[in-house]
Amino acid sequence: MLDLDQAIRERHSTRLFLPQPVPRELVNEALALAQYAPSNSNIQPWHMVFASGASRDRLVAALIDEAQRRPPNIPPLPASFQHFRSELGAQVYGAMGISREDTARHAAAVLRNWEFFRAPVAGIVCMHRDLGPADALSVGMFLQTLLLALTERGLGSCVEVSISGYPEIVRAQLAIPTELSILCGLAIGYPDPEFPANKLHIAREPIGENVVFLDN
Ligand SMILES: Cc1cc2nc3c(=O)[nH]c(=O)nc-3n(C[C@H](O)[C@H](O)[C@H](O)COP(=O)(O)O)c2cc1C
Repeated sequence: MLDLDQAIRERHSTRLFLPQPVPRELVNEALALAQYAPSNSNIQPWHMVFASGASRDRLVAALIDEAQRRPPNIPPLPASFQHFRSELGAQVYGAMGISREDTARHAAAVLRNWEFFRAPVAGIVCMHRDLGPADALSVGMFLQTLLLALTERGLGSCVEVSISGYPEIVRAQLAIPTELSILCGLAIGYPDPEFPANKLHIAREPIGENVVFLDN
């Protein structure tokens, strides 16, 4: 078992998974730990739907079909944040040996988002539609705890806003009721160790960019 600091440092996004099945008990253990996450008034607003086997395959087929027809409906990043996405894309697709100009290979790699990067377990993270930003924070706390517990158990993961770009497909395939908003997807499985982009540890800004201490 990793200690907490190690698990935090070790967790990173996996963008190609092995077909190796994921033991359900490992996911259950990680979920049981994540359930300890704090939440506004202890409402525990996270709601997750997991698809594996045939239901996962049907969901992926429907998402890929739609993604080949039209772009996902995902709000664009404000202009001042867009450089982060370009820098990330250069690293992730660069590690795959794909340049921005190589549009066919770039599009094929992007399409793997809706394949859950071939993960055998496809999670959907939801929250009641009447809840607000404080409750989305609580869902985020649950999600990070889940990711760390999965990391500790040797499992890879990738949080995916891309999945929320086709909410009606996800809703129809997994019978998700309309009172639940679909926040993102979560791919879970064993990372393909040969895939170069899985070895990336994306750098962070120095903490001083994000935090200010006012002492006087
Ligand atoms: C809310 C959220 C949505 C994300 N959506 C996607 C996504 O759609 N596709 C993807 O490849 N990565 C996605 N990611 C992964 C981020 O790109 C990744 O966390 C970030 O670049 C830092 O890299 P790391 O997770 O490897 O540390 C998402 C992460 C979060 C937290």
